[in-house]
Amino acid sequence: MRVESDLSPTNEIYEADARDIPIDDNSVDFIVTSPPYWQKRDYGVEDQIGQEGTPEEFVEVMVETLDEWRRVLRPHGSIFFNIGDTYESRSLAGIPWKVSDALQNDGWYIRNEIMWAKEGGMPEPAGNRLANRHEFIFHLTQNKDYFYDLWGYSNEYGNGSNPGDVWEIGHDRNTGDHLAPFPSELVERSLTLGCPPAVCTECGKPRERELRRTDKLDESRQQAKRAMEIYEQSDLTKEHVRAIQSVGISDAGKAKEIQDGTGRNADDVQKLADEAKEVLGGYFREFTFAKKETSGWSECDCDAEYERGTMMDPFCGSGTSLDVAASMGFSTVGVDLDPPEHVQPTLDASTQ
Ligand SMILES: C[S@@+](CC[C@H](N)C(=O)[O-])C[C@H]1O[C@@H](n2cnc3c(N)ncnc32)[C@H](O)[C@@H]1O
Repeated sequence: MRVESDLSPTNEIYEADARDIPIDDNSVDFIVTSPPYWQKRDYGVEDQIGQEGTPEEFVEVMVETLDEWRRVLRPHGSIFFNIGDTYESRSLAGIPWKVSDALQNDGWYIRNEIMWAKEGGMPEPAGNRLANRHEFIFHLTQNKDYFYDLWGYSNEYGNGSNPGDVWEIGHDRNTGDHLAPFPSELVERSLTLGCPPAVCTECGKPRERELRRTDKLDESRQQAKRAMEIYEQSDLTKEHVRAIQSVGISDAGKAKEIQDGTGRNADDVQKLADEAKEVLGGYFREFTFAKKETSGWSECDCDAEYERGTMMDPFCGSGTSLDVAASMGFSTVGVDLDPPEHVQPTLDASTQ
């Protein structure tokens, strides 16, 4: 089920420093980016990040940069921040650890350290250590509550259950032998998890997926498969399953939907649950974690239009992430000191 929004997506690109972005406060819903890594590549542009003399200076610049992103990011927003390491005098400089430590001290919540495990990769000449085949993607938020569509992600990239924090993704190939630094799948996964499809133009709140439990189980598990067989061969109904889900394992009465508000199970609900338990025996437990389905998307109280969620890449480079986000229907904001040639820079934020 796709969520509706009223307005068409917009695409903006700015020739600007990631530390001084010419857009309003609270104007983007999501950031996904890969900053220049420390002492890796000279982009040959004035004010570039990445050429600092020490890791400590680089870390300081990163904290300052994310402070600017805090300004433009809405309260429900997330940052998916891909950062790699560099060897310094034969030792890893520890850039991801140092940056994440400093960001945490600066008030960011580090919700996940996602391991990007690279399939394949360039050969490395070192004969006395393993080739580096992973990078980190830190999921950062400024608040404890934030937009997150785990259900949508789990159904796209798993079998419905939480697929975990290791992403096995190979490099996309550009033309010839050049490796694109940022694979499309990495961007797609990040956006699927954290970028809201629609946001209210008045209060700025995103529409959230609403879920309800079904009577379907994940039959890849033996126990669940057997529970489903017994259920299908019995005279039990969906109402029995809802009653089990309402009453829960301990009979304490958890459901809000069909409770009487006294904190106890209504008699008819308890009766249905007892009947179901009689038939299913111990297998009744399986139905307390049955699959969920989307029942709708939340609406705020404003009577205003919804716009598409807006993603920003403040080091957009050749624009891979912007292209991926646009193809998924999101609005995009690209920022780079040297923006991609195929897009015309937006001259002035105030003209938008
Ligand atoms: C695509 S990202 C880096 C990708 C990958 N992590 C790497 O290190 O190769 C690099 C981009 O950041 C841009 N850049 C460097 N310093 C910048 C700054 N201060 N503000 C905005 N963009 C900057 C560069 O022009 C370049 O296009």
